[in-house]
Amino acid sequence: MQLKDYFDGKAAEWDTLIKDEVIIRLQNMVEELALSRGSKVLDLGTGTGVLIPMLIEAVGSSGDVVAIDFAPQMLAEAQKKYQEPNLEFLEGAAEDIPLADQAVDEVVCNSAFPHFDDLRRSAKEMARVLRRGGRVTVMHPHSRDYINDLHVSLGGAVRNCLIPEEEVMFAIFSEAGFENITIKDVPQRYFLSGRKV
Ligand SMILES: C[S@@+](CC[C@H](N)C(=O)[O-])C[C@H]1O[C@@H](n2cnc3c(N)ncnc32)[C@H](O)[C@@H]1O
Repeated sequence: MQLKDYFDGKAAEWDTLIKDEVIIRLQNMVEELALSRGSKVLDLGTGTGVLIPMLIEAVGSSGDVVAIDFAPQMLAEAQKKYQEPNLEFLEGAAEDIPLADQAVDEVVCNSAFPHFDDLRRSAKEMARVLRRGGRVTVMHPHSRDYINDLHVSLGGAVRNCLIPEEEVMFAIFSEAGFENITIKDVPQRYFLSGRKV
């Protein structure tokens, strides 16, 4: 089964699969990002929009959130829940982000990066749509080992959706045009951050 079909098939039940403790963890992680009010944030691989209310609250009414996903049913679930004047939904792939160069201040990608078909191209696309000095954040509310073990145990379409080891992640993001790359991989959190050169 194609990954897009896999996620579309999960869309209706997706929110019921996310535990309250994970939502709290994500809220803490978004809070720690200290997004500037008024900034424009891309939520890449938004899914059913789990991060959307957190991002909208952080950037305020003068900011903007663009939510992108390649699975139309996942996007449809997000659209049912959230309609804000400063929120835009776009169907598109991480490998070919439907935004102009330097269109956003921040790219936030939660629980989605290892699913992208071409990790290097996705990282380059994130750099392209970010303004100079803009920040990329790739995060998961679990450690790398937890996520990779989970995907292997689920098997099927997500079996090969693995977060690469630290030095490979550094290489992917520095080759894509990021500097000051940091990775934090601890129980209950994986967090990569970098600034566009
Ligand atoms: C595990 S879900 C996470 C969704 C959401 N960010 C969350 O935290 O609940 C991964 C999402 O990435 C999307 N996705 C996977 N590959 C993609 C790609 N190449 N381009 C865009 N979206 C993709 C899937 O459709 C799915 O909605």
